[in-house]
Amino acid sequence: MDLRLLLRNAVQNTDTVREAARIGNVRVLFSLLGPAVRGFLLQRGKSGGATDVPADHRTRFNWQYEQDQPELARLYAVAKQSQWDGATDLDWSTPVDPHDEEHALVLDEALPLREIPAYRRLPKREQELQRHSLVAWMLSQFLHGEQGALFAACQVTEAVQWLDGKFYGSTQVVDEGRHVEVFHRYLTQKLGRLYQINDNLYVVIESLMRDSRWDLKFLGMQIMIEGLALGAFGTMRATSREPLLRELLKRVLADEARHVHFGVVALREHFTTALSPSERREREDWAFEIALLLRNRFLVHEFYEEYYAHLMSRSAWNDLILRSDFMRQFRSSMFRRIIPNLKRIGLLSDRVRPFYAELGLLEWENGKAAPDLTARELLEA
Ligand SMILES: [Fe+2]
Ligand SMILES: [Fe+2]
Repeated sequence: MDLRLLLRNAVQNTDTVREAARIGNVRVLFSLLGPAVRGFLLQRGKSGGATDVPADHRTRFNWQYEQDQPELARLYAVAKQSQWDGATDLDWSTPVDPHDEEHALVLDEALPLREIPAYRRLPKREQELQRHSLVAWMLSQFLHGEQGALFAACQVTEAVQWLDGKFYGSTQVVDEGRHVEVFHRYLTQKLGRLYQINDNLYVVIESLMRDSRWDLKFLGMQIMIEGLALGAFGTMRATSREPLLRELLKRVLADEARHVHFGVVALREHFTTALSPSERREREDWAFEIALLLRNRFLVHEFYEEYYAHLMSRSAWNDLILRSDFMRQFRSSMFRRIIPNLKRIGLLSDRVRPFYAELGLLEWENGKAAPDLTARELLEA
């Protein structure tokens, strides 16, 4: 890689490194170092059409086949009944047009663009095209996250110790495969755009794929990324008037609600009974670092590079996005699921609460934790 590009990437991510270092857990920072170098500096997720990530976890065979986890068995039964076909259950003949106001992909007031003077000066058609690109950026990140979820679900199915968990995991693998299928099809056939993976998201995905500990994979994928997806999909669905996208998100949301529930059921007991205090502290700190990376993912840097890098500095852009009403609402929708679930599995201790408070993320701690199985309240949005 070009040295100038390396330096630019290093400078652009100094704020993230400074924020990440504040928690001061050397073990956690060390475990994130490799993924951070490959994600932020070398931009592995953006170089070429594929990335090989080595995995290092144990596959647990269960020769007794005892089924002793009734809550997971119930989830498995529900998951089998809730399968759908991304090819036939969605109406792919629906036309999608960025200039169709009645079926707008997303409402202008639901995006941060109106807070940018240069955007407000643009002709209406140009504004519509930028909104179209921003939606494509968001859905592209959902797609990349779904690919990570597909492989994480495979790993978790191998590693989890309960047979009922393995049965349930097998349905999640199919669910995530279907999510990759429908997001990819929507992006390529309906929006005609596909953005590269955001560096923050790459770092999160790589770090949990490489970690050998099954509970960290669960925590990162089932609680953090999936919890965030629940909020993000729900917000996008509530602010879109495009019927195909709304139906697609509704069906994906119902699947994701089951996945988060699986994470909470599997981790609740493990974190409160099976870990030493130092192991527990490590999970608390790791979860905070992941929350930070996930928050930064929504600074939409790939979109900024395309449309605004010539007009303002990256730090001015970060300020603008972080302070925008849009970001406040979006952050709220994402973290109002994650924070109560962290509390429920015992990772929101008094020691880490001030860090979450500083990011403005504590206000949801007494909200509803794991969603119900049908996630009905999300679908009513
Ligand atoms: Fe998914
Ligand atoms: Fe999922």
